[in-house]
Amino acid sequence: MEKQIQDYDDASSHGDENTSFLNNSVKDTVRRNSIKYLLLANLFFFVMSALTLVCAIYMQHSKASYTTAGLLDEFGLFSPVAGLVEYQRSQFKPAHPTNSSTYVGIDAAVDNAWDDITALPDHIISAENFPKLDRPATSVKVSDPKTGEMGYRAGLRVFRQLQCLNLLRMASHSNYAMKLPHNEAVTVRENLDQCVEMLRMDLMCLSDVSVFTYNDNGQGIAADYESNRVCRNFDTIKQWTKDNAISSASR
Ligand SMILES: *[C@@H]1O[C@H](CO)[C@@H](O)[C@H](O)[C@H]1NC(C)=O
Repeated sequence: MEKQIQDYDDASSHGDENTSFLNNSVKDTVRRNSIKYLLLANLFFFVMSALTLVCAIYMQHSKASYTTAGLLDEFGLFSPVAGLVEYQRSQFKPAHPTNSSTYVGIDAAVDNAWDDITALPDHIISAENFPKLDRPATSVKVSDPKTGEMGYRAGLRVFRQLQCLNLLRMASHSNYAMKLPHNEAVTVRENLDQCVEMLRMDLMCLSDVSVFTYNDNGQGIAADYESNRVCRNFDTIKQWTKDNAISSASR
């Protein structure tokens, strides 16, 4: 562009000095204006590109995050943690041998590992949100330890599912039989049957469609469970439950 303007200057230098001066000042204004518009246009396109990028990143993030909250919303259901659910890609690595897993076996370390993922406190559902759960108003009430407001006692299902699985683990070891929870109202058998039913229904409800393949190690064919999965971040949900615990006094 500078080159063109230079050529134009040279061409006009043949004319009268005043005309030349006039021409030059008009040209300067035109040049300044066109540079100004060019800069503005550049700025405009830069801002638009930046905004598009920000929107793309934001939407990519919110699309996955929206899944749980959006689904609950669509079907008129409610969970206090719906908006906190984070999705992540994870690869499953089953322990080899299986009994080397922190969660397999019958010693105190294994019990502690299970306690850590099952012994989580209940939380409170405010009187405002309670109707969204569509449960009877006679449900157990508690007072919010933070505000003193009355609400309803609630738990997250994932921890109850894990408790059930732990119960089944314990029942599968004969030397744990004495530790299994029971009272006059609910026998061990009823507890275990309820757990099997709960896990059956929940697994069918979730209908996990992740795929597994098979390996042939020469001695036979075995399922390969080390596939990639989309997982909800368990730790985020666990932390929320701890942060929103109802104290033992208000239970
Ligand atoms: C763990 O399992 C392996 C076989 O998978 C077995 O040989 C070993 O004895 C088991 N260890 C314990 C402590 O049970």
